[in-house]
Amino acid sequence: MCAATITESQVRESLKAVNDPEIGRSLVDLDMVGPIEIGAGNAVSATIHLPTPAYPRRERISQAIQAVLSAKIPGIGHVDVKFDAHVKGKQSGGAIGLRAQNVIAVGSGKGGVGKSTVAASLAVGLQLCGARVGLMDADIYGPSIPHLLGVSGPGHRPEIAEEQGPDGKAVRRIQPIDAEGLKVMSIGFLVGPDEPIIVRGPILHGTIRQFLAETAWGELDYLIIDLPPGTGDIALTLSQLLGLAGAVVVCTPQQLALLDAVKAINMFRKVKIPVLGLVENMSGDIFGRGGAKQKAAEMHVPFLGEIPIDAQIRVNGDAGRIRDLFAESCPSRGHLMNICEQTAIQIARTLLETPAMPTLEML
Ligand SMILES: Nc1ncnc2c1ncn2[C@@H]1O[C@H](COP(=O)(O)OP(=O)(O)OP(=O)(O)O)[C@@H](O)[C@H]1O
Ligand SMILES: [Mg+2]
Repeated sequence: MCAATITESQVRESLKAVNDPEIGRSLVDLDMVGPIEIGAGNAVSATIHLPTPAYPRRERISQAIQAVLSAKIPGIGHVDVKFDAHVKGKQSGGAIGLRAQNVIAVGSGKGGVGKSTVAASLAVGLQLCGARVGLMDADIYGPSIPHLLGVSGPGHRPEIAEEQGPDGKAVRRIQPIDAEGLKVMSIGFLVGPDEPIIVRGPILHGTIRQFLAETAWGELDYLIIDLPPGTGDIALTLSQLLGLAGAVVVCTPQQLALLDAVKAINMFRKVKIPVLGLVENMSGDIFGRGGAKQKAAEMHVPFLGEIPIDAQIRVNGDAGRIRDLFAESCPSRGHLMNICEQTAIQIARTLLETPAMPTLEML
């Protein structure tokens, strides 16, 4: 006797019972179920649309689907789950001509805690996952992104090229520097390493706007912005120009640095930039460990993970080889990748849970 042929709608109906393990809602409600094919022997092939290519441990989804389908549909054959990723976002840069789904600022209340290292690692990690990524250095006074990615010095000067604008007219755009597929823009490309950068407030605002609006970023899934230490000047400027996906706040485990993290969280809240979460950098023997996780819980912000203090991170940063920290053999890889995944998932989660935040009115 042959088993009855199962149908696509039967499979779709059954998938309503499978929850996304990260977001906690049905795959069907989240619009994550793509094409379903039924083959010989009632074999099922289902494609799942992930909200980010940096989705952590996707095999949990295949396992849940296989378990639910075999329990609900008698006679079902082999179940194959395929994945693709569609990064969604606020796409809020439209008004200034920036086509980035999600803009992520990396900040802290204190200098030297590893913002630039984390920003560069987020960009490289998300790119390695398969996302289209840009990295913008908003540290106008002390740009370090070109150095971290090994694209500093002569030979890395952005060119100006003419492109066709949306209305068909020619527009001049700054070509970002390509760091192995990562699009990078920094004032560091435009001034010599020993030249002081003297910029007044209004020009600062204009420079940031120009970097966002006049750089040929193309279409991006994520644009990562490395903020300077200290005041909220640049954060305010960003918030006035576009609706950010949110800010990643970096701190070290010391009490003093944690107080600064609280200040940074409050600053972002004031300028209406959602806080995606806290990263504890340089965890380990010297500074202690775990303080940021506790502080994150107290402040009701997600904890995005920790990065142990590791001389290799400093050595690679100094040598312009942040990318090598993602080598399979590198002990930091897992920690850095975890932060990329948690950040990307947090964005997907907030997008589904909260309506868009308005951009600030220009003061
Ligand atoms: N987990 C880590 N282990 C060891 N060294 C680290 C770690 N994270 C960052 N560093 C080192 O600490 C120094 C400061 O890092 P980084 O420049 O990223 O900080 P920052 O917060 O951007 O600083 P600034 O406020 O000056 O912009 C660098 O030399 C970097 O290589
Ligand atoms: Mg920095």
